[in-house]
Amino acid sequence: MEEALLDTIAHFVQKRSRLCFREQKRSILRQRLTERLTHLGMPGLADYWGYLRNSAKEEPILLDLLTINETSFFRNPGQFRFLTERIVPTLEKTRGEEVIRSWGRAAPAPPGSIMKLRILCAGCSTGEEPYSVAMALFATLRYPRAWDIEILAGDLSDSCIRTAAAGYYDAERLKGLPATHIDRYMERRGNGAVVKDEIKGLIRFCRLNLNDVINGGPLPGPEDGNEPFDIIFCRNVMIYFSPETQQQLVDTLFRLLVPGGYLFTGDAEPLHLYDHEFAPVPDAGCLIYRKMEA
Ligand SMILES: C[S@@+](CC[C@H](N)C(=O)[O-])C[C@H]1O[C@@H](n2cnc3c(N)ncnc32)[C@H](O)[C@@H]1O
Repeated sequence: MEEALLDTIAHFVQKRSRLCFREQKRSILRQRLTERLTHLGMPGLADYWGYLRNSAKEEPILLDLLTINETSFFRNPGQFRFLTERIVPTLEKTRGEEVIRSWGRAAPAPPGSIMKLRILCAGCSTGEEPYSVAMALFATLRYPRAWDIEILAGDLSDSCIRTAAAGYYDAERLKGLPATHIDRYMERRGNGAVVKDEIKGLIRFCRLNLNDVINGGPLPGPEDGNEPFDIIFCRNVMIYFSPETQQQLVDTLFRLLVPGGYLFTGDAEPLHLYDHEFAPVPDAGCLIYRKMEA
């Protein structure tokens, strides 16, 4: 395969998505482009490069093909344990107290608007991560329906977002999900199960390109989509970016969190590699960070 053109395409991909195919990752780019060329019946990269530049439809298809979408329900159980055992009870207490205080105000806020919880799953792949978060919240909150919960779940891959929004998972993918959760939050169908609307309703799935957000663009969705988040899951995403982009992403996630908010990263994404103002959560036993209150 023509190396100079491969470089050109790698540069294009990085500019549009931040996905970085340097060094040993270059073989993934080569392999996936070869498959795409075969699919399109194109003889070489020169034809493909011309096609890519002149077809608006091809760019998202290529970016989708280049993503690595490995995920599972309740991936990194320690993080979910800390979420349910420590973060949720604290939030219930602090937000609950805010509601009680609001009763003493002249114009109380409308019900449901105070116990608000906004969560971002950035790079959510096929949906197992946001559904795990939603199920964990439903299983832990004493009055889940009293909360105004919104989980914004986005991914660069259109095909992943379609799978996530459908919410159907076969038996293989359901491994790791406790049977009680399947019984409570899903309906068995064929060889698998589909997520119930009550859980789906907490999540807004969208195509999200972190490149746009790093560049200062808004998150997809309505204007209030740009309110800061209480919790951000951005796990196993930045490992696919260059070190410079990783630093920019850490800064961006800091900006998107409320003071006191939590950031969950992947096992291979410790923040001590970057300049940052997060505080590691010392007793979490896994990678969870907090944006400290000023
Ligand atoms: C390995 S998966 C991780 C999924 C999930 N967060 C987890 O930890 O199980 C990485 C995901 O990041 C997504 N991704 C890569 N680059 C992205 C970008 N620029 N914007 C949004 N998502 C991106 C990929 O499409 C992929 O689904």
